[in-house]
Amino acid sequence: MPNITWLFWGVLFLTAIKFHEANGQLASSDDTILRAILAEWTAAPPSWGTNDPCSWQGVTCVNNRVSQLIIPSMGIEGSLSADIGRLTELTAIDMSYNPRLGGILPPTIVDLRNLTKLLLIGCSFSGILPDKLGNLKSITYLDLNTNKFIGSIPTSVGDLADIYWLDMSNNELDGPIPKTLGKLLKAGHFHFNNNNLSGIIPPEIFNENMSAIIHVLFESNNLNGSIPDTLGLLPSITALRLDRNQLTGPIPSNISNLTTLIEINLGYNNLSGMIPDLSALKSVSNMDLSNNSFDLSDVPDWLNEMTSLNTLKLNSVNLQGPLSNTLFSSLQQLEKVILSNNKLNGTLDITGSTISEDLNKVNLENNDISSVTPDIREKISISLAGNPYCNTSTNSRYCLTAEQVKPYSTNLSRCSDVNCNEGDGEGINPVTCSCSIPYMGTMFFRAPSFSYLGDTEKFLTLEKELWTVLNLQANSVYLSDIKFNENDYLTVHVSLFNPDGTMAFNRSQISDISFKLSNQTFKPPDVFGTFYFIPETYNFAEDSSGNSQLSTGIVAAIVIVCVILFILILGLGFYAWNQKKSAERAKFQNSPFASWAPASQGTGAAPQIKGARWFSFSEIDKCTNKFSDSNEIGVGGYGKVYKGILPSGQVVAIKRSQKGSSQGELEFKTEIELLSRIHHRNLVGFVGFCFDRGEQMLIYEFVSHGTLRENLAGKTKTSLDWTQRLYIALDSARGLSYLHDLADPPIIHRDIKSANILLDDNLTAKVADFGLSKIVTDSEKSYVSTQVKGTLGYLDPEYYSTQQLTDRSDVYSFGVVMLELLSSKLPIEKGRYIVREIRQAMRENGNGELGFLDFLDPIIRNANIINLKRFAELAMQCVEEEAMNRPRMNHIVKEIESILQNEGLSPTSATSSQTSFTKRQRNVYSDQLPLKNVNSDEFANSAGYRFSDKIEPM
Ligand SMILES: *[C@@H]1O[C@H](CO)[C@@H](O)[C@H](O)[C@H]1NC(C)=O
Ligand SMILES: *[C@@H]1O[C@H](CO)[C@@H](O)[C@H](O)[C@H]1NC(C)=O
Ligand SMILES: *[C@@H]1O[C@H](CO)[C@@H](O)[C@H](O)[C@H]1NC(C)=O
Ligand SMILES: *[C@@H]1O[C@H](CO)[C@@H](O)[C@H](O)[C@H]1NC(C)=O
Ligand SMILES: *[C@@H]1O[C@H](CO)[C@@H](O)[C@H](O)[C@H]1NC(C)=O
Repeated sequence: MPNITWLFWGVLFLTAIKFHEANGQLASSDDTILRAILAEWTAAPPSWGTNDPCSWQGVTCVNNRVSQLIIPSMGIEGSLSADIGRLTELTAIDMSYNPRLGGILPPTIVDLRNLTKLLLIGCSFSGILPDKLGNLKSITYLDLNTNKFIGSIPTSVGDLADIYWLDMSNNELDGPIPKTLGKLLKAGHFHFNNNNLSGIIPPEIFNENMSAIIHVLFESNNLNGSIPDTLGLLPSITALRLDRNQLTGPIPSNISNLTTLIEINLGYNNLSGMIPDLSALKSVSNMDLSNNSFDLSDVPDWLNEMTSLNTLKLNSVNLQGPLSNTLFSSLQQLEKVILSNNKLNGTLDITGSTISEDLNKVNLENNDISSVTPDIREKISISLAGNPYCNTSTNSRYCLTAEQVKPYSTNLSRCSDVNCNEGDGEGINPVTCSCSIPYMGTMFFRAPSFSYLGDTEKFLTLEKELWTVLNLQANSVYLSDIKFNENDYLTVHVSLFNPDGTMAFNRSQISDISFKLSNQTFKPPDVFGTFYFIPETYNFAEDSSGNSQLSTGIVAAIVIVCVILFILILGLGFYAWNQKKSAERAKFQNSPFASWAPASQGTGAAPQIKGARWFSFSEIDKCTNKFSDSNEIGVGGYGKVYKGILPSGQVVAIKRSQKGSSQGELEFKTEIELLSRIHHRNLVGFVGFCFDRGEQMLIYEFVSHGTLRENLAGKTKTSLDWTQRLYIALDSARGLSYLHDLADPPIIHRDIKSANILLDDNLTAKVADFGLSKIVTDSEKSYVSTQVKGTLGYLDPEYYSTQQLTDRSDVYSFGVVMLELLSSKLPIEKGRYIVREIRQAMRENGNGELGFLDFLDPIIRNANIINLKRFAELAMQCVEEEAMNRPRMNHIVKEIESILQNEGLSPTSATSSQTSFTKRQRNVYSDQLPLKNVNSDEFANSAGYRFSDKIEPM
């Protein structure tokens, strides 16, 4: 029997491999441990699992033991095995920026006595911190920022005698601050912000021997009691943030001993008494004492001596009396002064030769100011709404909602004719103006010492530092979306481009860059203070091509063994395989998909149809957990929608037609062809389809923040503010404009409505559901005559009466969505049609077209009235009765961009990133709604909620 011989050779080769392994670099115990760690991961760098663990991505071996695991931003998924505690020679672990790496932090981690660095930023670790954390005797950097840790901070933390960097911010920790922190004499950074820590700030945690401490960040917790006066002992502190707590009592006067301070923020507490004289704080450039219950007092004179001040926030602190010109003329670094909600009176005077050139914002809303001196510099934006002055001078520019400073963003104007496929993660490389895939993320600066966001010079320096330290080509950094978030952190969206001109970064480049950011090797210019970075997931191109690191000898051995096994299996399975294949061939030849059939079934590669992938039923069955109920995220007339995770880690939404409701094969093919041609950042991405075992399924990218309708109806945790609504309008207008003008042939959506606009976690809007879409072919260029379909309330009346469909029908529906963005109301509610009512109200108000104000959602009521009005007028143009009077989609895009610019916002940047993530994610995909036989209000009401009965807890 030849089979016996083959078997013999096979065993021989396997033995050879085993032998090679045993002789490898690494001690066999560490080898086993690393493999045990790998076994708990469902996604890992491709080199992991190959023969020699010392050659795995990010693994460093010294003297046959594992000494470092540096694998940030590698797309690792799964949990961390308790075996990690047995890699006892480990000195550094960086697993940051792997958002799907989570579970508990194994208590065995404290056995790593040689560990100096443990960086787990931006993962999803949960559960409590190991009680014996203090056993990590060698540790100097412990960074657990942005995870989901709960419970209290172990008191053993006080035993980390060598610690310099201690960051536990952005978790869900509660309980008290351990007194033992006072033992950490080498500490430089206490970052505990954004948790739910409670109780007092123990006086014991500060003492004069803490000579290294520069940052104390306790903001956004639940702390109470008074500010301990031991704080005044810290010899070198530069940033102190205790804001957004429930602290009471007076500010201890010896705070003025902290002459090294640059930023002090005690805002949003219940502090009382008089504000002590802080004029000794000569280095402070950013002071926020706002929103406290201090005793009623005049504007303190000592403020005039704080000559480094550029940002002063004393809003809602009970100030009275006149506001002297001296404040502005003596503080020559001033950029921003916020004194709103006090009882300041008299005349506002910001004139004189010594007024700071950088002064750009003075907010005095809701005071008693009665007059203003003339000749105030144009550049200074002053708001006096809510002062007696505005009762008499209603037309003054100071009385309208203040316009905002246009923040800096990297200048891309010389690349203005370049369009990249942002949906696939592309961006414009500012060096070459070509499209490539940047590494993107957000930098959070928690204690910047400036506030003027138009300060080009400072941001250019930041760019330069970034490309220098990260070894990128000059100018290959793109900064955008710069703003202060709700915690008063300066957030900057960063895109980093590959230096060597190729499209994308490889794994070791990403790992190097990430580590320089997680390890704080990169230090921003001083005025930015410290930072942390949270990247977006990077899709590595190389993963699909596979890169093994095996030696050629081993490869040869494996190839030979595989060939032998293959022949064996082939011999056994040939008959069955042959039978199946001919059956399949017969099936395909009768199917419209025949030409798409995989060229060679044997390769196992999925066939590509213009970017869309073909999935087998079993693949989909597996990734949806056999279509389990818990994966179900929506139900519609046509069937159900499931959430699934592809082996690549991509999360998808799978629309599965019900048996019986599925369309004909030809129609299905047409739809797939249509979908696979459409790629745009603001259209829900089409991933592929399944046409197998009589099933028809469409696979889309998963968009996790629900529909616009749900977000407007308050079904998500956050409510949309005016800026977010503007960006959503812009995004969806861009998506539609793409369908009308750039898709070839053009496409009319036919069912634009808020329930068909999905939002992702960054609140980027994506238009969904092309189920009703109509392709406009050349022969019918101007209009398509068709059976009327769409959703009541959004339906173009002209299309309804003439059955002639043009792209202006989408414009009408879009106008209704814009009105929804203003009012948050459904288009038809309790028998009232919002388009008609607003039109009437605007007409009745004569030329004061402000009639829409009654319909305004209270949440956006204090938005800039001029921009609100422009937006409302644009919406009304869209819902003109006669199609020819409506603007085209590309015009609407331009108009919304211009409104955004008026708001001082960048129309090029994406929506506010880092909006809070809803804990309950859900997703909704809707499908066509034939209009026939439906015309009740009840129907219109339910339209937006067709799938809302299913909520998936996460
Ligand atoms: C780890 O620590 C032990 C003692 O604590 C020491 O003997 C050993 O050399 C250290 N290993 C490394 C790599 O520093
Ligand atoms: C924070 O802690 C307080 C008790 O100190 C508790 O009442 C509150 O529910 C907690 N908040 C959150 C969001 O966990
Ligand atoms: C400042 O610190 C010194 C020594 O630490 C102390 O003697 C002095 O009283 C402090 N001053 C204030 C105003 O607390
Ligand atoms: C401003 O307010 C102070 C204190 O309330 C008061 O004494 C003073 O007369 C006021 N001045 C003016 C001009 O109204
Ligand atoms: C990591 O940071 C430390 C401390 O800032 C620094 O000494 C070290 O060189 C950094 N490591 C790398 C590889 O950049």
